[in-house]
Amino acid sequence: MNTEGLTRRFEKEFGSKPKVFTAPGRVNLIGEHTDYNDGFVLPCAIGFRTQVAIAPRDDRKLVLVSEDFSDRFEFDLGQFPRVRVGAWCDYILGVVSVLQAIEPIASGANVLMHGEVPIGSGLSSSAAVEVASALAFMSLNGTFFPMPQVAKLCQRAENTFVGARVGIMDQFVSCLGKAGHALRLDCRSLDFELVPIPDNVRLVICNTMVKHGHAGGEYNRRREECDEGVRILARWYPGIKALRDVSVEQLEKHAGDLPPTILKRCRHVVTENQRVMEGTEALFAGDVARFGDLMRESHRSLRDLYAVSSEELDIMVEAAEGLPGYWGGRMTGGGFGGCTVNLVNADDAAPFVREIKKRYHEKTGIDPDVYICAAADGASAELRARERDASSTPVLE
Ligand code: GLA
Repeated sequence: MNTEGLTRRFEKEFGSKPKVFTAPGRVNLIGEHTDYNDGFVLPCAIGFRTQVAIAPRDDRKLVLVSEDFSDRFEFDLGQFPRVRVGAWCDYILGVVSVLQAIEPIASGANVLMHGEVPIGSGLSSSAAVEVASALAFMSLNGTFFPMPQVAKLCQRAENTFVGARVGIMDQFVSCLGKAGHALRLDCRSLDFELVPIPDNVRLVICNTMVKHGHAGGEYNRRREECDEGVRILARWYPGIKALRDVSVEQLEKHAGDLPPTILKRCRHVVTENQRVMEGTEALFAGDVARFGDLMRESHRSLRDLYAVSSEELDIMVEAAEGLPGYWGGRMTGGGFGGCTVNLVNADDAAPFVREIKKRYHEKTGIDPDVYICAAADGASAELRARERDASSTPVLE
């Protein structure tokens, strides 16, 4: 649905004219489970977006309605829930609660949300809701924080309010992604660079249709396993604060000192950081074949060492092999279901989709959704365009 459509629905629902803010989902090309280890990631924003329409109210009520869910929520800003209520509105409430801790929300508001990002598929529908809501409520207050800060406060909302201990990758690229580019992010310093994706390559995203919703406990367990690795390795290398600080040589030297499971988790993270570096160089050099091979290695590592793949993800990755125009692919996002991402020549993308759907269905009996994507703009690009149109100048960066 376009912005005009949502505006009309809002006017019908609430009788006033809203402002509409949008933010995209993302697909991660390489660098999985490295963000919370202070490491490196290489995601891009994609064309699926979440829109949040907002208008102030005369009272202190927050009324939240979604095009995609039937339940409607009302809260009083004075008696705001402290923890999640267990519904779609949690991501908006989390953002409001983090913003409120910085400065009081100026007035009550009516909110209508519409999300296009497939839910539970590892394409960051939650980050898209958080970022679009943060922009909406900042506009209500007339304050805009710089985009990296917006990403951080959205991450905080998810960590503290929703209760998922996610890293910064999804929110950051939803804010700052750029069309035609992947974004290589240093998750410790938040320095980033834009890495061009060749025009003739598409990102074909294959949804296994197995939702990853149940995976929260495993995700947090992986984080703990990484922390345990750091604690043990710090006995020999006291300067180590996160797995980001550990080289392959240091890890292998102490392989015998780590419990086998912890060693496997650390091996994935340490080598995955290297793959991000190498992959970035390969893309800068236009070497898509090398990048594709690194994606394959990343998948094997996530499957065998980090143990976050699933039977369906493995089948989907395997199904791509040998198809014309295919450079490489892997599971993307947190894992345990969700999607694979595949680099495919633009001219071959349509037959690739037909064939992979067929192959996956033959093996699993499931009809997958497959999307042909290109790297899209993050929320900041659209805001900047809007500022230019309105010739107003809120500070973004
Ligand atoms: C989820 C989290 C991200 C990241 C990935 C794994 O998408 O939201 O922060 O940790 O898993 O790379």
